[in-house]
Amino acid sequence: MKKVKAIFAMMLLSIGTFAQSGNANKGSMWEDPVSLFYVTVGFLIVVAVLVIVVALYLLQVLRYMAKDTAIKRAKAQGIEYKEQPSWWENLNQKLHGFVPIEKEEAIIMDHSYDGIRELDNHLPPWWKWLFYGSIIWGVVYFIAYHVTDSLPLQTEEYNTEVAQAEEQVRKLKAANPGAVIDENTVILTTEVTALADGKETFNNICSSCHRMDGGGDIGPNLTDKYWKHGGSVKDVFKVVRDGVPNTNMVAWGGALSPEKMQNVSSYLLTLQGTNPPNAKAPEGDLYEPAATKPATSDSVKTQASI
Ligand code: HEC
Repeated sequence: MKKVKAIFAMMLLSIGTFAQSGNANKGSMWEDPVSLFYVTVGFLIVVAVLVIVVALYLLQVLRYMAKDTAIKRAKAQGIEYKEQPSWWENLNQKLHGFVPIEKEEAIIMDHSYDGIRELDNHLPPWWKWLFYGSIIWGVVYFIAYHVTDSLPLQTEEYNTEVAQAEEQVRKLKAANPGAVIDENTVILTTEVTALADGKETFNNICSSCHRMDGGGDIGPNLTDKYWKHGGSVKDVFKVVRDGVPNTNMVAWGGALSPEKMQNVSSYLLTLQGTNPPNAKAPEGDLYEPAATKPATSDSVKTQASI
């Protein structure tokens, strides 16, 4: 009982200090109804647990007292005291139907392995019913998934989910056309961060074939006005995304996001006319940027004509 009291005192103390520290802060938790709710519920739980502990303790004391009286009464009557099994022991015995220890001799099996012998007792009911349950479940599962095909298998579930996701993407794209970057919506961005990102991509990936300065090596010179596949940002974006079949220029669409491809396309077009030393000879056709077209209202800030 002393222990219980000590725990209770400690809890009160900690709640007290918690309350104080809470009060010390500005806009304390006592003003927030949600934290107040949690504190109240927490406190109620603590009280409930304490009540249960005390009740169990008292019950135990009561049992000892009853037992003591029973022993004394048996003694007075001159008979031997025999403890009654508790309700829990009774229930356990009833559920398991175990053969009691005194009668175990009857169910011992006659084989023996180095003195280890087998007792043919009942299986615990929870185990047995779990086992039967799994057999029944197996039959139900087999029929539902493989015989009547009434429930979807994993592959089917996956395909349905992918289809749903695609449908969502389609709706999103339809509702928000500006958000999708493809060869029709790509713009020549002049944003500093976007160009810096494009430069990083170019230097990391593209420079191995096109050189850091874009002068060309395995891939063509990207600083001149001659292009094999067109020199507009749309043309460049398309080549970067889809690559050029049967050449070393692979499709980057899988590795780079549309935004990154827009950035790198815009960056490499800033290299136009830089004329780096030892650049590769021009390949392809001359591409002259069209005259500045009036940009559409939402892209006026970032679009420039080449
Ligand atoms: C493994 C080498 C290699 C890498 C890496 C590479 N390219 Fe290329 N690139 C080429 C080759 C080769 C061609 C020419 C294809 C052809 O013959 O049509 C090319 C062509 C191009 C063209 C078209 C040029 C024109 O004249 O029309 C662009 C634009 C381009 N690359 C951009 C990039 C960008 C951006 C990257 C980085 C994301 C990149 N390349 C990475 C090899 C490469």
